[in-house]
Amino acid sequence: MQKLPSDPGTLAEFAVILRAGGLAAFPTETVYGLGADASNSEAVLGIYEAKGRPRFNPLIVHCADLGMAETVAEFSPLARRLAGLWPGPLTLVLPKRPNAPVSDIVTAGLDTVAVRVPDHRLALALIGLVGRPLAAPSANPSGRLSPTTAGQVVAGFGGRIAVLDGGPCEAGLESTIVRVDGDRLVQLRAGALARADIEACAGVSVELPPPSGAIIAPGMMRSHYAPRASLRLEAEAPRRGEAFLAFGAAPPGWPGPLRNLSPAGDAREAARNLFSMLHELDASGVDTIAVAPIPPVGLGEAINDRLARAAAPR
Ligand code: TXA
Ligand code: MG
Repeated sequence: MQKLPSDPGTLAEFAVILRAGGLAAFPTETVYGLGADASNSEAVLGIYEAKGRPRFNPLIVHCADLGMAETVAEFSPLARRLAGLWPGPLTLVLPKRPNAPVSDIVTAGLDTVAVRVPDHRLALALIGLVGRPLAAPSANPSGRLSPTTAGQVVAGFGGRIAVLDGGPCEAGLESTIVRVDGDRLVQLRAGALARADIEACAGVSVELPPPSGAIIAPGMMRSHYAPRASLRLEAEAPRRGEAFLAFGAAPPGWPGPLRNLSPAGDAREAARNLFSMLHELDASGVDTIAVAPIPPVGLGEAINDRLARAAAPR
């Protein structure tokens, strides 16, 4: 079922599904999320089942506003300052409140919880109608590409999941995840909000996790965002038989499958196109997708992070 929100009954219908413990996919500014009532353990288990997601990989809790988020997590003054960036593509990992309306399955048993307020009219309206926070990972089978259109969600789950269709996602890349640890900030996942923007708001620097340290966000597992084809990164030019994902100038006259993340070399445009174009090139059936070098500046950091994971041996 793929529903357009132009039908006024649709949002209410989706809220009923979620309040009854069902699953429903909805758009956010980053990627589509597969939502369930975060307080309902059975409902949340349904997410793990539908995705085939490893149990140790905890979920992000989506709230309608800061007030709802404060029922879920403890906000230090620094955390509250960062919440000034909400609604937006920033997920904060904070201490979980003792009576939070959040099942332990959502946090995979951790005493911290990941929360965010998405910047999307339909997501906010839906959470508001449900009246409770929604746990929602990206709406894709585990280990596959995150969906940026309703059609990709429908295809990924073989039509078994109701999808609220809000068109293509604005950012096209998941939220940036930052753990607030006393007066320190640690970026657990690069994402749609650039580190510099977070630092400008926080007034403190955002640390990167140690390169070979423990897996502190399971999303940091090396092979996670994986198309079927293998990737060849930093490719100056495609080779025969490959598909090519260009950035900036595309090779003139290249006869094979080709997409260009951003002809103008703009990282934000490239981030928005990344998953869709990987999906499209993957669907062309090639064994290898060659990817042009992306400068690691601004959102280029998150793009290269996703590409490195997608290219990791598996
Ligand atoms: O943009 C997004 O963040 C999308 C949309 C739907 O909101 N959601 C998303 O969720 O990307 P998901 O489940 O694919 O990724 C959630 C990440 C995982 O890497 C998980 O390990 C991490 O958040 N995470 C969740 N709770 C955590 C916690 N308490 N501590 C550390 N990492 C946590
Ligand atoms: Mg995901």
